[in-house]
Amino acid sequence: MGERIFIGVAWPYANGSLHLGQIAGAYLPPDIFARYHRMKGNQVLMVSGSDQHGTPITLRAEREGVEPGTIAARYHQEFLESWQRLGISFDLFTSTGTANHTRVVQEVFLALLKKGYIYPGIVSQPFCPHCQRFLTDRYIGGTCPYCRSEKARGDQCDDCGKPLNAAELIQPRCSFCGEAPEFKDSEHFFLKLSAFQDDLLDWVKKGKNDHWRQNVRNFTISYLEGGLNDRAITRDIGWGVPLPLPGFEGKRIYVWFEAVIGYLSATKEWAQSCGNEEKWHDFWQGDKAKGYYFIGKDNIIFHTVIWPAMLMGYDPDLNPPYDVPANEFLTIEGKKLSTSRNWAVWLPDYLSRYDPDPLRYLLSISMPETSDTDFSWSEFIRRNNDELVATYGNLVHRVLTFTYRKFNGCVPEHSRYDDFSMYLDDLNKDIGTIRPNMDTLSADMIEDAKEAFRDMDSLLSRCQFRQAIMGAMSLAQEANRYLDMKSPWKVIKEDRQAAADSLYVALCVISHLRKLLYPFLPFSSQKLHEYLGFAGGVEDDGWRLHSPAPGQKLLPPEPLFSKLDEGLAEEESNRLRQSSSE
Ligand code: MF3
Ligand code: ZN
Repeated sequence: MGERIFIGVAWPYANGSLHLGQIAGAYLPPDIFARYHRMKGNQVLMVSGSDQHGTPITLRAEREGVEPGTIAARYHQEFLESWQRLGISFDLFTSTGTANHTRVVQEVFLALLKKGYIYPGIVSQPFCPHCQRFLTDRYIGGTCPYCRSEKARGDQCDDCGKPLNAAELIQPRCSFCGEAPEFKDSEHFFLKLSAFQDDLLDWVKKGKNDHWRQNVRNFTISYLEGGLNDRAITRDIGWGVPLPLPGFEGKRIYVWFEAVIGYLSATKEWAQSCGNEEKWHDFWQGDKAKGYYFIGKDNIIFHTVIWPAMLMGYDPDLNPPYDVPANEFLTIEGKKLSTSRNWAVWLPDYLSRYDPDPLRYLLSISMPETSDTDFSWSEFIRRNNDELVATYGNLVHRVLTFTYRKFNGCVPEHSRYDDFSMYLDDLNKDIGTIRPNMDTLSADMIEDAKEAFRDMDSLLSRCQFRQAIMGAMSLAQEANRYLDMKSPWKVIKEDRQAAADSLYVALCVISHLRKLLYPFLPFSSQKLHEYLGFAGGVEDDGWRLHSPAPGQKLLPPEPLFSKLDEGLAEEESNRLRQSSSE
């Protein structure tokens, strides 16, 4: 029954709209991966949900003077709409606010407590004498002891990606009034990370983890070699998952500890909704089940160290991540994205004016896989016009409209179809062997399309999305050159069959492109699938070459993409500048 691919996607804080940095970093890549694997016939479970707890939510709620639950519900709804419109195909997008999640989190907490991997202790917690409150996580800021960034917060430094304890901050300050905090003792629970250091190092270094991205692997190894400290996993705060113990009513479980458990609780929720509670095991146990976690680079340690440690301690039979293909960051028009200064392009705003595929295209072809990449409106317009419209869209449109017009709306028959049809869709059969029956140009074109398919397969399975889409686009370019050389629109005047032959080859290539580009551009691939006269969904047609049959009825074609006015680049760029405080 093929492989079982578990795809865990970072749980976005439900405290604001999604922006393009998050989409390029964590949400588009897993969708590409999920669509590819579903096409291959593998079992895929792609889950995530809104992260509804922690100080990111309470800070926002306090600022607006509403309950944290109001904020969480508002953005959860907005996320669901965004996924639908952008085509991010979660099997389940739930939230950390469910009773199921609370139950699973409390169960993991108690199991770890029982085994001694969680233990109580006294922490000295920052307390603001002026505001008269404990300063948890984002309520306190200061200088990072590792990278000296002045924007570190009580639980993490976003600049260097290291988790922190508030007491480690240099020059700590209350986020509300700016005053220096006092430290007060408070009883909390600790996760005994130190107990897992050696096992984790073995797992990352000696295990079969050399397929990990270099940056993820190196960052994790150097973090582990620096030594693991036990970390407090409860907080003096009233919003979050309650501790399953009497006497701790005023405290909650730390948001990061419970959010990562969401991967497991969401799988259980999904199994329940399938009517088979035990089905969650399929994606967490055995060699056939592989877990991939898609996140931005600021979340690496939580997924390569803390979550694997929790899993090892809770139940060593559950698979730790197989891969954590974390992305680097997306900059916006040359500057670091900043939500607080509103230097960001917001997804709902984008979707209110443009189609999903052009954005999916741009973010795929400039995906920040190995280094930061930049989004700019001029690049968006340029790539849409020069690449989507002029290369791929134009190829498809000229082949389809001309064929439709000249061949009664049907796929024409190639004169050598009988000779080569058995080689056409078989990836393992080289068309070179029958080349004498076919002109070299056409045989090469078909071979190149097959080659692209094989390349894509290996690139997509290794999460190299950027290379993969570049390969598909160069196939489209080649097909344009092929058509220019064959010029069926001229040839048809003297030799109708010769025109039919080259159009048939071109139809096969666009039929392959419909598959190759589906994970990236699902909306336009589905349209192309229909124009070519195929029924049902592209995904159901499987990850295989499938050429249109001679005589197959085409649908009247429409352009797949539309050209965008170049003036929009400046308009959008001004809009960005005007609404920002940069
Ligand atoms: N909410 C976190 C963020 O936006 C990510 C949580 S990922 C999870 O940075 F695994 F913990 F859920
Ligand atoms: Zn830092």
